[in-house]
Amino acid sequence: MSLPLTDNLTSYDRLNELLAEFGQQHVLRHWAELDDVQRETLASQLNEIDLTELTRLISGKDKNTDFAALAMRASSPPAVRADGSGAEWPPAQARQRGEDALRKGELGAVIVAGGQGTRLGFDQPKGMFPIGPVSGRTLFQFFADRLLAVNEKYGCRIPLYIMTSDATDQQTREYFAANNNLGVPDEDLYIFKQGVMPAVDSVTGELLLQSPSSLALSPDGHGGTVSALDRCGCLTDAASRGIAHLAYIQVDNPLANLCEPELIGHHLMAASEMTTQVVRKRYPMEKVGNVVLVDGQVQIIEYSDLPTPAAEAVNEDGSLKLWAGNIAVHLFNVDFLRGVAAKAGLLPFHRALKKVPYCDEQGQLVSPDQPNATKFERFIFDLLPIAKNAFVVESLASEAFAPVKNADGSPTDTPNAAKKAIADLHREWLEQAGVCVDQGVQVEINSKLALSSDDLKGKIRTNLRIDADRYFDTRLESPE
Ligand code: UD1
Repeated sequence: MSLPLTDNLTSYDRLNELLAEFGQQHVLRHWAELDDVQRETLASQLNEIDLTELTRLISGKDKNTDFAALAMRASSPPAVRADGSGAEWPPAQARQRGEDALRKGELGAVIVAGGQGTRLGFDQPKGMFPIGPVSGRTLFQFFADRLLAVNEKYGCRIPLYIMTSDATDQQTREYFAANNNLGVPDEDLYIFKQGVMPAVDSVTGELLLQSPSSLALSPDGHGGTVSALDRCGCLTDAASRGIAHLAYIQVDNPLANLCEPELIGHHLMAASEMTTQVVRKRYPMEKVGNVVLVDGQVQIIEYSDLPTPAAEAVNEDGSLKLWAGNIAVHLFNVDFLRGVAAKAGLLPFHRALKKVPYCDEQGQLVSPDQPNATKFERFIFDLLPIAKNAFVVESLASEAFAPVKNADGSPTDTPNAAKKAIADLHREWLEQAGVCVDQGVQVEINSKLALSSDDLKGKIRTNLRIDADRYFDTRLESPE
């Protein structure tokens, strides 16, 4: 039950009565000291919360997933492997089908960019992180360039829906505005904000205040994408443009092949409502979600929920039983998402124990040194078990996955590792096209020039030698 937004919304008695029903009236304890604007702020935050649902979450009544037991029953999901095996159709046919869908304008693109990049130690939205190994292009630029290249190649106009959060929204908008939308036409760019969930005291379940007039709120997880797309009119916009499928990526992977024809084709050939691209895990405890089959349903077990014995289980040939790592590149049917958006509560909430600063009874901000709060998040991949014909497509990590998660100096998933992966892949493309790239030289290719090694072939002099770092923007060779 949400608090009704009425004229006397800010009336203390009314709020107090409603909150008391859920044992949460303590959030009004500083009311007497608040001015009208502050009271309005607090009242409208409370209005956004579904207190009935929150109470259910706090009581833990929905919390019944035994991941250890699930993992015991988990097996390899049905998947098209990187060598093309596993599907009833050849990869070339899938590619053709995907290209047709692109030409017909059936695709839209979604980038989730609400995370704060705390682990990366970057104080701007992650999409603004410079990742081009030679060009210094940002993550947002990578995706905008790629999308414009796909538009050009297939003669389509793919709308770009970017999800932000309270923490990233304003700077993201300012960044796009200051940079001519990175070339994306105004009418094809939609920046929309995800929802929030309140943090509660992990012991008492009480709502935490961030200040006397404000609740401690945090993003509702990328599972909030569906309701945010719906709330902001993007699903309606997509449908009105004749878009039948949305290609979804996370902002933190510069190798994500947004709107890649072969993946789209597999999704269509499989008549799937949700298709997910995976890579083969390099080692058992790699920090990626595990795409598995349990009781006939494709689903993801997060790395943090997977017991070590299940992670380490191997086949006779020594390969990992649970091999499929989630790279968070998905394709969705728009009608499927509209159906999900219409039914509240289809996606479960996951809990995370975190350190959340809070305002105490005296109105003082306390910064706990131990986790003190439960946060609630929805995960987009929990749509897999409810999607019809959920489908899995393997790609090579070297071509599709270079996550930027941790600051340089960390063992894995750093900007330096991602830059190297980009430069290595683009070196390979050039070498396949017959170009000689000297050892130690870094190369980078803008998607507007080539989306794959095939795009380069025939366009470039084969006796070309590259002996210094080079960024190929839209030209293949130096003007001289
Ligand atoms: C995530 C996946 C993991 C996968 C890995 C691949 C989850 C729970 N796990 O892990 O299975 O193998 O990516 O890189 O997602 N985001 C929002 N709003 C939110 C939360 C996240 O937009 O409320 C975005 C972030 O900007 C980021 C992405 O979602 O781009 C991933 O979130 P993050 O929390 O970093 O997930 P990981 O633990 O890295």
